[in-house]
Amino acid sequence: MNEIPTITLANGVAMPALGLGTSPMGDRQAEETVSAALRAGYRLIDTAENYRNETGVGRGLRASGVDRDEVFVTTKLNARWHGEAEAQQAWANSAERLGLGRIDLLLIHWPNPQRDRYVDAWRGLLRLLEDGKVRAVGVSNFKTTHLDRLLEETGAAPHVNQIELDPTHSRPEQRAYHAANGIVTESWSPIGAGGDLLRDPTIVEVARRRSKTPAQIVLRWHVQLGLIPIPKTSRPERLDENKDVFGFELGQGDMDELTVLDRGDEGVVDADRFGH
Ligand SMILES: NC(=O)c1ccc[n+]([C@@H]2O[C@H](COP(=O)([O-])OP(=O)(O)OC[C@H]3O[C@@H](n4cnc5c(N)ncnc54)[C@H](OP(=O)(O)O)[C@@H]3O)[C@@H](O)[C@H]2O)c1
Repeated sequence: MNEIPTITLANGVAMPALGLGTSPMGDRQAEETVSAALRAGYRLIDTAENYRNETGVGRGLRASGVDRDEVFVTTKLNARWHGEAEAQQAWANSAERLGLGRIDLLLIHWPNPQRDRYVDAWRGLLRLLEDGKVRAVGVSNFKTTHLDRLLEETGAAPHVNQIELDPTHSRPEQRAYHAANGIVTESWSPIGAGGDLLRDPTIVEVARRRSKTPAQIVLRWHVQLGLIPIPKTSRPERLDENKDVFGFELGQGDMDELTVLDRGDEGVVDADRFGH
């Protein structure tokens, strides 16, 4: 079984370069899929308080027989925990549901700027890091304006920002900001969330040329850009397909063909308006 390589975060922690998304899955499906994914070689699992499946994720981890220390578990906290003390409670709740004494990566799920408490939540995450309750800390759906405030007010950059990203929304300015500040970009809905992306004629043609599936071409594109994609599948037969993207390379011409599919931020969920 080919191992999934890792990417080193700014604090030296190794994070798998591709993982399994678990939304939308209920506890039972998460348990079965996480267990199957870990047995298939996945080492990064993405969940959230909001997915209501952390209990199933934890059960799947234990059922897999894979050593807990080999697995990298990410979860995320909701807006109600935006505060330094509140974030400690959110951690305790997630840790209990997951059945873990330590969480590998905790993210602020959405900035919810209208509440204006995300900097306080960030201070809470930094305290959890200091206390060894998490191995890395980050955010999700933060625009550069939100990141600016974290940096200005705390001096600490998130290790990771998990954002909506696929070849049609490739977010070049956001990625450049992350790169300049040592933030690793993680891609949600990396293969287009079950929409038309995998039927795009350019992607289908590159897949034909390379004798790969469209999903593999898109996931390889993320990996070659240094992004961490977390494709979700509940179908066991797709687990191998989605992770087997480390044994081939796209040429510069292929990469360029995918790059021109970018349509800017049109259709990207606006984190100044949406959040939970
Ligand atoms: N931070 C955030 O705000 C946020 C927001 C959304 C999502 N996320 C995270 O990101 C993860 C992934 O995003 P997503 O689930 O929205 O979208 P996605 O991973 O891009 O796409 C999932 C869809 O693609 C299908 N699929 C999976 N593998 C396939 C393959 N090889 N060929 C064809 N179709 C395939 C899945 O169906 P089957 O299951 O039937 O295979 C499902 O319908 C989520 O699960 C969640 O963990 C985070």
